[in-house]
Amino acid sequence: MIAPSILAADFARLADEAAAVAGTAGRGADWLHVDVMDNHFVPNLTLGLPVVQALRKATDVPLDCHLMIEDPERWALGYAEAGAHNVTVHVEASRDPVALAKDLRAAGVRAGLSIKPGTPLEPHLDTLRHYDTLLVMSVEPGFGGQEFIPEVLDKVRTARRLVDTGHLTLLVEIDGGINTDTIEAAAEAGVDCFVAGSAVYGADDPARAVEALREQVRHASAHRGWA
Ligand code: DX5
Ligand code: ZN
Repeated sequence: MIAPSILAADFARLADEAAAVAGTAGRGADWLHVDVMDNHFVPNLTLGLPVVQALRKATDVPLDCHLMIEDPERWALGYAEAGAHNVTVHVEASRDPVALAKDLRAAGVRAGLSIKPGTPLEPHLDTLRHYDTLLVMSVEPGFGGQEFIPEVLDKVRTARRLVDTGHLTLLVEIDGGINTDTIEAAAEAGVDCFVAGSAVYGADDPARAVEALREQVRHASAHRGWA
């Protein structure tokens, strides 16, 4: 799956930018990744609920909301009510991520848990049994256009193994620095869903960029022997 991040899109033309990757007949973006930043959890401020509500009306592509915010307990359910498909919170910011996952699922959305590059996976494995998505950050959250941190692929491999052996049931998603140079290594490590901001919206033809990334994933996954 490919999830273009609108952080790299033109914020004055979000409906057009969503349409630019939507595609037709099974092609195009699988999810649209929406980066919510509060200038507290990360040193940047982007968009919030009103924009997600407006975007929901403007596109049929499922919205993958990545909440880089403090106090997700206060805000996350609002994104579920706004029609998000996937609501992802940061484990570093949540007081009770298990309760939050239960509330999100009860609200009818997929629950996602994100971990920063320096956050280990092992202490959170029990928590992850309550989640539908693990979002492995491959840059420090806060900004697009940063360089991929390959060391996080160890966490991807661990998560992949736990999913393949039936210990976890979730999608493994990666976010940050994904482009034509890095996506194959991520695919070989076992990622299911690839977020790409600048690699998609920095391209002349965003829809083609999505398909080119997907083609690279197909190639690398066949090579790895799964998917
Ligand atoms: C970073 C965001 C990412 C960002 C990725 O904090 O979570 O989703 O948009 O952008 P690129 O693909 O340019 O690294
Ligand atoms: Zn993100």
